[in-house]
Amino acid sequence: MIAHLLSAADLDRETATLVLDTATEMATVAGREVKKLPTLRGRTVVNLFYEDSTRTRTSFEVAAKRLSADVINFSAKGSSVSKGESLKDTALTLQAMGADAVVIRHSASGAAHRLAHWVDGSVVNAGDGTHEHPTQALLDAYTMRSRLGKLDGVRVAIVGDVLHSRVARSNVTLLATLGAEVTLVSPPTLLPVGVDSWPAAVSYDLDAVLPDTDAVMMLRVQRERMNDSFFPSAREYARRYGLDGARMRALPDHAIVMHPGPMNRGMEIAPEVADSARSTIVEQVANGVSVRMAVLYLLLGGKS
Ligand code: NCD
Repeated sequence: MIAHLLSAADLDRETATLVLDTATEMATVAGREVKKLPTLRGRTVVNLFYEDSTRTRTSFEVAAKRLSADVINFSAKGSSVSKGESLKDTALTLQAMGADAVVIRHSASGAAHRLAHWVDGSVVNAGDGTHEHPTQALLDAYTMRSRLGKLDGVRVAIVGDVLHSRVARSNVTLLATLGAEVTLVSPPTLLPVGVDSWPAAVSYDLDAVLPDTDAVMMLRVQRERMNDSFFPSAREYARRYGLDGARMRALPDHAIVMHPGPMNRGMEIAPEVADSARSTIVEQVANGVSVRMAVLYLLLGGKS
């Protein structure tokens, strides 16, 4: 197994499949009355969150606790970070406290890679700027595999604000590794430079793509990362790139609708779609715990 999980590119097909298979086993723990395994007893997992998070932080916390690890939740607000302490000094402090794994979310792309040079423990990237979010890609792949039965040859449309999305970047890489066919659907202004070198097709026309799609993944429009105007208006965006009920009905019957959360209801996704039977949004959250248990187990389980 690898020492850190910094990027979806760290996972070859065999390792990614091992994580998904391990997550399937971990999911059985959630169904028990006592939702705990003794595997990581005596190990310390630090959650180092410099950026806001609901799902990812609590998901890592629950995952580590279900494996009996000690968990320290460190958020930049209320810590010495607000006094100007650097990431390096914060890392060395956590290191001195004996962290076996550090889960980091940071607004700077590359922060997780830097951290991996400074601490002895395993580093898990829980989202670095617009760069990567590998455990999100793993939980998305897990969700698709469990709903559609396979990943090889599955047609996935990733729709919306690709430019600012670490979820899209990690998903494109991991899905290509696992043999899925990805199409990015986005207004030209929300596609990154160099997207033609990604292992994905590109389309500007959502209606043309939907009938040939097995899983459609809607991305949040990331207004907090936009200091410019990327589209004329919210209404115009929703009209061209939002998934409403009519568009959902153009999907094949077996197709699923995904969103990593948090959602802008009424913008990239209509409430009737988010709450429909095709939506896997709540399931993705539950699967996130199983996948993160698998990642922590595989990164730390073998080490003493
Ligand atoms: C995503 C993130 O923070 O990168 N959310 C998540 O982790 N579930 C996507 C987003 O913020 O839009």
